[in-house]
Amino acid sequence: MRRPTLYVLLTACVAIAALSSFRGDEIVSEPSLAAEASLAPEEVEASSDEQAEVANDEPRHFRAPHNVNLFITEDDAVRAPGEDWFEQQAELFPGRYSYDESLADGEGGWVDKDGKYELRYDEEEEEAFYWRVLTKEELTIGRQDYVQFCASCHGFEGDGYGRSAQHLRPGPRNFQRAMFKFSKVTQALPSDEALKTLIRNGLDGTPMLAWDLSDQQLDGIIQYIKTLSEPETGWRDLFTEIGDVVEVGENPWVGKESEAVTAGEKVYHKNDCYACHPGYLAPPDLAALREAPEGTTFRDNLSYPAIKDSDYTVLDHQLKILPPDFTWHQLRAGTTPLDLFKTIAAGIKGAAMPQWKGAFPDEDIWAVAYYVHHLVTEYKDQPAKRSAFMNALRRDQ
Ligand code: HEC
Ligand code: HEC
Repeated sequence: MRRPTLYVLLTACVAIAALSSFRGDEIVSEPSLAAEASLAPEEVEASSDEQAEVANDEPRHFRAPHNVNLFITEDDAVRAPGEDWFEQQAELFPGRYSYDESLADGEGGWVDKDGKYELRYDEEEEEAFYWRVLTKEELTIGRQDYVQFCASCHGFEGDGYGRSAQHLRPGPRNFQRAMFKFSKVTQALPSDEALKTLIRNGLDGTPMLAWDLSDQQLDGIIQYIKTLSEPETGWRDLFTEIGDVVEVGENPWVGKESEAVTAGEKVYHKNDCYACHPGYLAPPDLAALREAPEGTTFRDNLSYPAIKDSDYTVLDHQLKILPPDFTWHQLRAGTTPLDLFKTIAAGIKGAAMPQWKGAFPDEDIWAVAYYVHHLVTEYKDQPAKRSAFMNALRRDQ
């Protein structure tokens, strides 16, 4: 036993003795308070024998607040990506994965030599699913890094309501709901790689900073976050789909950037982006571009964003979200044409922003990405130029 721990016990005994003599039966909760007050929190956390059974190690960090559980006591498993992903991994890491025809009732499946992934047959569904197996030891490491780096905002239990959260706008994500906005993935849930990229990049203009953590630390945190999914949702949903960042393909506008902007302006205004974001054409010009019949009217305040309902909540309060005006608001997930291509293609889950991949050709997604990029670089943070541009649109409104 470490010396400070002994000291805790001694202090606690002295405190119990002292307090009992004064207060008789009411003592139940007092000793631990006395012990905590006299010592730094980490020593109190490490002193429980029950916890020591799980990981004999000290907690990885020494500033965890009092009374926060730092140890995961049970192994767990969360849903993993499907066959395609294993095929890719098998190529990337020769020797680690092998295909076994006899698995899954003769359907066949991948075997991971390292035992991190398992194909498990589900009796009820009569189907096999891949799982990421998580030991209590690795989850404990992930939990401790999570508490250290993320919990102040995302909450000790991942509910998005940490100590700092009440003053943050936008609010931190609630990991129990396993719903993500900016992962640039079209499927239901982002792959580990997509989450890593997101966390490493942060979200511009929000308290979600870019995190410079090691690959191992990030992996631990991400696996831990997955286990926060509520039963039968997110990574605990058998039928969940997990995907990677949307495929980019070749950029057809290289060397023709200004043509891309012109084409993108058309794509933007023909595809109703202005139903939510501002329209950047005066109504008569928009009518002409859309070849709208005479007398067509557009929504009020066309050159302002229109606030939209979302599936996100803070303490059960349903949030409405203002779509950005690209000449004014800070975009969260990057403003290069490449980043914009991915964001627009994938859409923003739970917010009104649709997935555009598949809705029109990739070439047009690229064009509209160049157009948005143009609006940002030309007008954002350039108040005089922006006023002139917006006032011209608003002259007839
Ligand atoms: C200072 C507060 C703060 C801290 C600390 C913080 N975050 Fe966040 N995080 C946020 C906020 C705020 C958002 C939501 C931003 C938004 O909606 O634009 C967010 C969003 C996220 C998202 C969701 C992005 C999406 O696409 O929906 C993930 C994942 C995330 N954080 C992971 C982490 C991890 C992992 C850590 C610790 C390494 C961490 N955060 C630490 C404030 C924080
Ligand atoms: C039905 C409403 C709606 C439509 C239509 C729509 N968007 Fe959005 N869009 C949103 C909302 C809401 C957000 C903000 C989400 C958030 O920040 O939580 C958004 C965000 C964005 C972002 C910013 C992402 C970031 O990094 O912050 C881009 C870029 C974008 N939309 C482009 C487009 C383009 C291009 C179109 C048309 C092809 C379009 N949107 C159509 C609602 C819409």
